[in-house]
Amino acid sequence: MAKQKTTVGTINNETLAFTAGRDVELDQALITVDCIGTAAHVTMLSKMPLKPALITEAERKQVIEGLVEIIGLAQDNKFKIKLADQDVHLAVERTLTKKLGDLGKKIHTCRSRNDQVAVDLRLYAKEQILATLEEAAALVAALVSFGKKHEAVPMVGRTHMQPGMPSSVGLWATAHAESLLDDCVSLVNAYELNDQCPLGSAASYGVPLPIDRQLTSDLLGFSRPTHNVLYANNGRGKMENIVLSAMSQVMLTLSRLAQDFMLFTMPEFNYFLLPAEFCTGSSIMPQKQNPDVCELVRAKASRVKAAELGVYDLIKGSPTGYNRDLQEAKELFMEGMATTRACLRIVTPMIKATKVNAKALIDGFSPDVFATDRALELVGEGMPFRDAYHYIKENLHELESIDPVEAIQLKTHLGAPFGLDWDYFTDRTAAVKETVREERKVFNRAVTKLLGVGYPLA
Ligand code: ARG
Repeated sequence: MAKQKTTVGTINNETLAFTAGRDVELDQALITVDCIGTAAHVTMLSKMPLKPALITEAERKQVIEGLVEIIGLAQDNKFKIKLADQDVHLAVERTLTKKLGDLGKKIHTCRSRNDQVAVDLRLYAKEQILATLEEAAALVAALVSFGKKHEAVPMVGRTHMQPGMPSSVGLWATAHAESLLDDCVSLVNAYELNDQCPLGSAASYGVPLPIDRQLTSDLLGFSRPTHNVLYANNGRGKMENIVLSAMSQVMLTLSRLAQDFMLFTMPEFNYFLLPAEFCTGSSIMPQKQNPDVCELVRAKASRVKAAELGVYDLIKGSPTGYNRDLQEAKELFMEGMATTRACLRIVTPMIKATKVNAKALIDGFSPDVFATDRALELVGEGMPFRDAYHYIKENLHELESIDPVEAIQLKTHLGAPFGLDWDYFTDRTAAVKETVREERKVFNRAVTKLLGVGYPLA
């Protein structure tokens, strides 16, 4: 077979800078998880049935100590990855080798940077998904209490943007809350798929030594190791794509909520009063109060979707096994998750601060909005629906005396059939919070056991 020809020598600086790309900077966020991954790997190596032991118990402790030190530096923002390191993985190895000599050179036994970065990103994703769930649950709670407070405030329900049927502010707010609760299901599904440990799959093809991937996975608090070592590497990018697709669902909900907000706060509607602290002004028009937060949330939904599609595009033609292309997915992944979280964090206080203008909402009703409800009342009295439909269509004037407040109370009192069963929302929100609590506990327990000190997921 033809041999690959390369010039012998060290990599030049241009190549180094080009291939490291933004990793030197992005990997700063991965230092803690990288050290935790190494701690698990080295612990597993120390338990391997080899004589003499690859790493003794005393050496394991030394490595853990070194790693804890690095995490401490990282948390104080004092651990710097250099361009010559290329990435966090080699920066940690360089630092440990400087401190521990030959022992530092052993830590990379039976692994590759490929499975190392894969595990780092999965641990990082765990933290981000749980934080996103927590932030989403906070927004659900804000929407539900907004809805509850204005439960029976009438609002014209629209289809095709035209007045349709009587609705309420309660129904509007909790529609978005329920959407977000479904998005949490997507996030939890993504979390579960992500909850598999790829460490020990090495470059993509495993190693010829009796490593214990189950042990590594347990030490890190993963639910299980990935099964096939090649898929462990092919799964990189795919996993990011799955997580971003769940994030993108959250953004879809936020974008539509933001859009409604912009509509309902227009002076022509005046349903809601957008709080001034969430608006910006104009440099030329002195009177302006613009809903920039909402506009940007809408725009950022596009960016998160672009990140998801970007990752998809990076991997869709990627041949089996590790390819450096995957590195480019890191920025999209981190940015997509951070953007989603930032949007959740700004929308929640905005909802909390929003005032409802009940008068404008009631004034927004025209009698014909009651046509369908009235026709259905006639059905309740025994008239066939199509007859009632035509009767109302010809006698719209009969609707003029209907009071929106009374009409909406009638529906609101139906409770669950109207979709305003408050227990439904509190139960689902509590379940999301419980998942977050449980998963954080599992991780913290594992890390504390591994390092002797805990690094709670943010
Ligand atoms: N920075 C690299 C990445 O994100 C780490 C893995 C490098 N592996 C390699 N074989 N060059 O993918």
